[in-house]
Amino acid sequence: MWDTFYLNTSTTDNLGIGLFKYGLSPEVRFITTNSTLAQILGYSSKEEIIWLKLDNLFFKNEDKDRFYEIVRSQGKVNFFEVMLRSKSEDPIWVAITASLVKEGWNKEYLEGIVEDISNHKKMEEELSLERDYMQGLLDHIPDAIYFKDLKNRIIKVNKFYAEGMKLPQGQIVGKSDFDFFPKEQAEKMFADDNYVLTTGKPIIGKIERTILPNGSWNQVITTKIPMYDKEGKVIGTMGVTRDMTVYANLERERMSMLINTLDVLGRALEQRDPYTFSHTRNVATIAEKIARTLGWDENRLLGMRLAGELHDLGKISIPLDILNKPGRLSDLEYGLVQEHVQNCYNLIKDMAFPFPLADIVYQHHERIDGSGYPNRLKDDKILPEARILAVSDVLESMTSFRPYREALGLDMAQAELKDGSGSRYEPRIVEAAIKLIQENGGKEFWTDASTQ
Ligand SMILES: [Fe+2]
Ligand SMILES: [Fe+2]
Repeated sequence: MWDTFYLNTSTTDNLGIGLFKYGLSPEVRFITTNSTLAQILGYSSKEEIIWLKLDNLFFKNEDKDRFYEIVRSQGKVNFFEVMLRSKSEDPIWVAITASLVKEGWNKEYLEGIVEDISNHKKMEEELSLERDYMQGLLDHIPDAIYFKDLKNRIIKVNKFYAEGMKLPQGQIVGKSDFDFFPKEQAEKMFADDNYVLTTGKPIIGKIERTILPNGSWNQVITTKIPMYDKEGKVIGTMGVTRDMTVYANLERERMSMLINTLDVLGRALEQRDPYTFSHTRNVATIAEKIARTLGWDENRLLGMRLAGELHDLGKISIPLDILNKPGRLSDLEYGLVQEHVQNCYNLIKDMAFPFPLADIVYQHHERIDGSGYPNRLKDDKILPEARILAVSDVLESMTSFRPYREALGLDMAQAELKDGSGSRYEPRIVEAAIKLIQENGGKEFWTDASTQ
């Protein structure tokens, strides 16, 4: 027979740890216990639990089997995490550390401690839930997400990023943009990361074209933000890149539809007045080349070219006999001709372009000293595209034949531009035009022969 006795000292009860001695042979029952163990299990006193069977305390049978298997095979268990059954039948997370003690030929008991780890488990569960949410979000979001350290090395990426790179997530960690993108592009990305790291400021919604490892281009929008540690020190960057190629393609399609429509209008203009048509085509070429010389990007060049092609579209509603009248025009007639800028503005103002096409066209007869029409705008009140159009327009008109006069020639056109440089025309633009003529051996650089 076992002697039943309780560990009564306040020391064991204040430990916050449940203590027990549980007989396995010859009798199966608690031999000793303390009130903390009772508390852990939801009982009011140790007297209440002393008659319980340990086997019945396991919430799941398989846990009980595993427990005894370890005890039997190793003679002890160390921090065995398990759910026990409370008085109210609820599961309680505990950790059991116990040893199997044998005395004499048939006395066998377990001696150990029980720690309440429910708080710890709850925190662990919350944390892992949060981690799962986070991971779920990261892995299901159709954007490329990446985390980088202070040296811009990748610490973590989401599934979408890895799929884009055609590599497992793990193989991307430790690499940098230089491992995936062409040098020039990686340098730009590196510079952006460094900007975020050194200034602590985010880069929000930067639109750029990137080349993928398979060689295809895509249009993306990227946001990069700094990551901080608990002390508020920047420890890296986090970025989200969204593929906008589909939208960009749609936009391009929409644009090309618009351009086709305008092309039809242009052809109508050509049939009616071939001089104006070849004029607008040439002005478009001149303006585009000047803008390119000034270092404008491709998107803006497209806008420039389009503005050149459309700038005199408003002439479609001016009577031909006035448009091609030899000699001086009356004030009334001249007023009618001037209306072509307003006409054109009205024609295209409601079309959605990614650049202010209607305004550019509206301003192509303005001069930087305020001597132009229709609004006598000055300097930077005139859009840069319109300032280029002004120079291109004069250059083309003066060098081409008109039904009402002979061509005045390239020398006179250059003289006019130089004379008006700084007053009517922007010097930078005049310089670019003269440079282009010189580079083309002092000849027109926009005629078919020179552009082939
Ligand atoms: Fe015009
Ligand atoms: Fe013109």
